[in-house]
Amino acid sequence: MPGFEIFGDEERQQVQEVLETGVLMRYGFDGARKGRWKAREFETELSAKLGVKYCHLCSSGTAALSVALAACGIGAGDQVIVPPFTFVATIESLLMAGAVPVFVDIDESLGLDPAAVEAAVTPATKAVLPVHMCGAMVQIDRLKALCERKGVLLIEDACQSVGATFKGKAMGSFGKMGCFSFDPVKTVTCGEGGAVITDDPKLYDLAQAFSDHGHDHVGTDRGLEKHAILGTNFRISELNAAVGLAQLRKLDQMLTIQRRNKAMIKEALTRIPGVTFRSLPDPQGDSATFLSFFLPEEEKTRQAAKALAQAGVDSCFYWYDNNWHYLRQWDHIKTLSLPAKLGIGLTVKAPDYTKVKLPQSDRIMGRLISMQIKLSWSEAQIAQRVEKMVAVLQKSGA
Ligand SMILES: Cc1ncc(COP(=O)(O)O)c(C=O)c1O
Repeated sequence: MPGFEIFGDEERQQVQEVLETGVLMRYGFDGARKGRWKAREFETELSAKLGVKYCHLCSSGTAALSVALAACGIGAGDQVIVPPFTFVATIESLLMAGAVPVFVDIDESLGLDPAAVEAAVTPATKAVLPVHMCGAMVQIDRLKALCERKGVLLIEDACQSVGATFKGKAMGSFGKMGCFSFDPVKTVTCGEGGAVITDDPKLYDLAQAFSDHGHDHVGTDRGLEKHAILGTNFRISELNAAVGLAQLRKLDQMLTIQRRNKAMIKEALTRIPGVTFRSLPDPQGDSATFLSFFLPEEEKTRQAAKALAQAGVDSCFYWYDNNWHYLRQWDHIKTLSLPAKLGIGLTVKAPDYTKVKLPQSDRIMGRLISMQIKLSWSEAQIAQRVEKMVAVLQKSGA
């Protein structure tokens, strides 16, 4: 997810403007900052781009998830339905809040399967937290309808999917709150950063206060600001926001390049009989950061991923064996290993995560390869890549 591939004068200029003022904090120092408010500008532009009323920047996507959970009132003992395919941060944020992740199967959209969610919701379910993995969307319309019908909260982890839409509406804008990451390898990067979005003024208020020790941010004297709630420090710095602001302004250009590059490769792979593709509930809305495809069976897929790397086709991820993105390899989470006690064991009995079985997800993940789409590829490089991929995949008996 390659925002870093196109750093240029725009990012340097934005950072320079911050350094000239000497004010690296997003709040206060009104005189010294010469009218430069990079975090605020970023928030205004991102909410306009995503079509939501409010956006609040945080120090990371993980922080954004914690902020969203806190603002939505999810805490000790609350059950939240999550997919087993995500970056561990989604689960960490729940565990740190004392909440209880309930793992439910994914479908070929690589996100929560609405039918499996329907079957898993109980009176104890407080929220459903779908994750839009690898730049595209889950079946968000069905999940939203289901959550409304069942009276549970919908919170979206759109950390990997800035710029993706479903029928023209931004991922992250369907739920009560949506979360984004702008870490070093995301489409839009701040170095480190994240954001929560919402249309609800109360949730926005809670989010911005919670991210900054409870400050209400009213007035111009930080020491005299009020604190209706406890909070912590999940603030973004002006330097990070400045980089992200320049990057955000390049998002449309990045999406155009990604979509073109992906289309060329996908078209070529379509001709290989055993290769099928991730289902996209709205292909037009794919941000195209990855091309995710399936082979007919697990062992052949594992071998093909290795063969692609050996042939010089880089950035092909076999998530099933990856230690960070799929429940199967998360021994530390399954055993709730932490240097100190977790709330989940104290407030409610922790489920035995070592016993969670999700055969439908295993069948999908075991056959999945996701290839990152880069911005810097020339047409000749794409053609070479396609040639190598077709050779490897045909040989692997796909
Ligand atoms: C799906 C998902 N959720 C959350 C995060 C956490 O974001 P960050 O790295 O900014 O903390 C990531 C980052 O990779 C992610 O991919």
